[in-house]
Amino acid sequence: MQDEQTAVVTEAAPQAAAFPTGFLWGVATSAYQIEGAADADGRGQSIWDTFAHTPGRVAGGDTGDVAADHYHRYPEDVALMSELGLGAYRFSVSWPRIQADGSGPANQRGLDFYRRLVDSLLERGIEPAVTLYHWDLPQALQDRGGWLDRDTAYRFAEYAGAVREALGDRVRLWTTLNEPWCAAFLGYGEGKHAPGVQDPPGSLVAAHHLLLAHGLAVPALRAAAPGEIEIGTTLNFYPVSAASEDPADLDAAHRIDILQNRIFLDPVMQARYPADILAHVERVCGTGHIQQGDEALIGAPIDFLGVNYYTSYHVAGGGEAADGPSCWPGAQDVRFLSCGRPLTDIGWEIDAQGLRTQLERINRDYPGLKMLITENGAAFDDVVSPDGKVHDQARIAYVDGHLRAVQQAIASGVDVRGYFLWSLLDNFEWAEGYAKRFGIVHVDFDTQLRIPKDSALWYGGVALRNDLPAEQAI
Ligand code: FCB
Repeated sequence: MQDEQTAVVTEAAPQAAAFPTGFLWGVATSAYQIEGAADADGRGQSIWDTFAHTPGRVAGGDTGDVAADHYHRYPEDVALMSELGLGAYRFSVSWPRIQADGSGPANQRGLDFYRRLVDSLLERGIEPAVTLYHWDLPQALQDRGGWLDRDTAYRFAEYAGAVREALGDRVRLWTTLNEPWCAAFLGYGEGKHAPGVQDPPGSLVAAHHLLLAHGLAVPALRAAAPGEIEIGTTLNFYPVSAASEDPADLDAAHRIDILQNRIFLDPVMQARYPADILAHVERVCGTGHIQQGDEALIGAPIDFLGVNYYTSYHVAGGGEAADGPSCWPGAQDVRFLSCGRPLTDIGWEIDAQGLRTQLERINRDYPGLKMLITENGAAFDDVVSPDGKVHDQARIAYVDGHLRAVQQAIASGVDVRGYFLWSLLDNFEWAEGYAKRFGIVHVDFDTQLRIPKDSALWYGGVALRNDLPAEQAI
């Protein structure tokens, strides 16, 4: 929140205000992408172990078996964050480390890793932000249907309670799910992510069960231990624009907006699916999987929304409605168009203003909702220069541009409390393997040597000053 002093500065300076006092400057990672230690201390198999070990699923045949070996090297990684001056760290807990088979008593050796991690963060004054599900479902639960099976939602709530019981006295910020869009639609619709199921209508059922898992976990988290915590969920948002005012294009944009943005946020915030969303689901797979009372559970009050943002969509109707695997159930006919903006190394258009548009839209739809940017960042083809450094000016420009957009959103009244850059380390980028580098710290995956890139030093400076440099980076 802005104190009076900041408000005076705002009036004097025509440009956007400095970031609010207490703004969290963090970085984000996830368990499977960095931990490695796939067999350590009683960890079970996750769907990502199975998927990555299936030939042809991940570029280069890469797996997360070793990844950035963070499980063993976390003291070094926490020290790095501290040296950079960062104030917060968002990481995820690996469900199969806590329940090898997805149910039953918690594995204390698995929890001990996160206890050690949290303690070392707190010792250095870094606020931990825990994500409970970043896609690594225990394989044993997948064997019973995974997110197509309603029971998985109940298992998730049980697991969430166990983690809160173990860490709840030391962790304030809790996120239930990371990007259920990817888990449902890439995992069960297109099959590009684990578990690799290609069933677009079924992926809408998976989406509902993920929402139910979130809704059941919120009270389970609050009940599991005494003390105040803040609970949110993390969604990946893309502002969607239509190619023209033609009804076919407007309809395409409406359906993509439903599937990408509203199907998750609206029921969480309104405790019901709005009629147009229900009608879409009805058309594609029926609504028999939505039981009476589910929507009320899904709408359990949350304390903040986690916003992940990478790029925006520009769409048109009139494509071929192919029947095959797709992450767009009921919108397979939509065409995604280029706006001609520069691309990151993973092929996503750079649209910093889209972040402002998205934040302002959420605030318009749900006024006063407290938000954290839980991910934003860029893949670039970084190289270690002869001077031993990584001069990733393009990443600096990307983050700088997006932070200016956040600043503008805050100035226009959006309540953003923090920013977590994706990612601390180069890591296992899902189906892309290790080929796409998102870290602000370079990792040599042969030696595990870490080299903070120029962007890490730049970002540390921003965090320390709680402000951007006067000159915009290009
Ligand atoms: C997000 C994921 C994260 C990472 C970034 C690049 O969709 O949450 O794990 O892969 O994209």
